Amino acid sequence: MKFLLVCLALLPVCAARPQDLRYKMFTFPQETNTDRVTLTTEKQDFGAATVCLRSFTDLTRTHVLFSLATPSHADGLVLFWWPTGPAGLSLYARNSGIRFPGLDYTVNTWHSMCFTWDAVSGVGQLWLDGRHSVRRYISSGHISGTIIITLGQDQDSYGGGFDAGQSLVGMLTDVHMWNETIPRQEIMNFMEKKFFTPGNVLNWRDLEFRVTGRVLVEDSQFPL
Ligand SMILES: *[C@@H]1O[C@H](CO)[C@@H](O)[C@H](O)[C@H]1NC(C)=O
Repeated sequence: MKFLLVCLALLPVCAARPQDLRYKMFTFPQETNTDRVTLTTEKQDFGAATVCLRSFTDLTRTHVLFSLATPSHADGLVLFWWPTGPAGLSLYARNSGIRFPGLDYTVNTWHSMCFTWDAVSGVGQLWLDGRHSVRRYISSGHISGTIIITLGQDQDSYGGGFDAGQSLVGMLTDVHMWNETIPRQEIMNFMEKKFFTPGNVLNWRDLEFRVTGRVLVEDSQFPL
């Protein structure tokens, strides 16, 4: 509690009370191995998951878009861009990773993306700007334990192990997470910014988060 008060006194946006971030974005304005947003959730056991977000960056190097860790799996659920051999958006579940090459992930433009994964089939799929990847096996079995989610930094260990060379410089908005694979129509509604049922694990309109370092909450620049 003492920490929280200090935190509030220093930075107006570093509160832990849920906030409605509609029409807002997180800006990550510099490359560091510290600056990040940490998200918490009460749900601790996942038999499936969907994560959706919108991002903007000019990075061509490796960079993380979503990092969820548990004590047993630092790469519990991770989405990142990998630039070589072949380049692609990479998805990790329970420390196993696969890559989706050939998607149109270009710099200096907003991208809307979602990924789904479920514990029974172990299959993951990625959606980028209304188009989807193949459905590819990653890992089966539940994701469980006290989860830590970071935006802007990739956790190579539980709650830490950050690498500036994998950090995000850019902006993120509309981050949602569900504990199920949501229907295709809901994913399309997210992509087209129509009405969709907000995340029941992470809800951008009611988001509990903590800022570490220079991360700004600013008016969203995603074109409506
Ligand atoms: C998701 O969470 C809700 C509410 O906690 C729960 O009722 C539901 O069974 C969960 N769904 C899955 C697929 O685990």
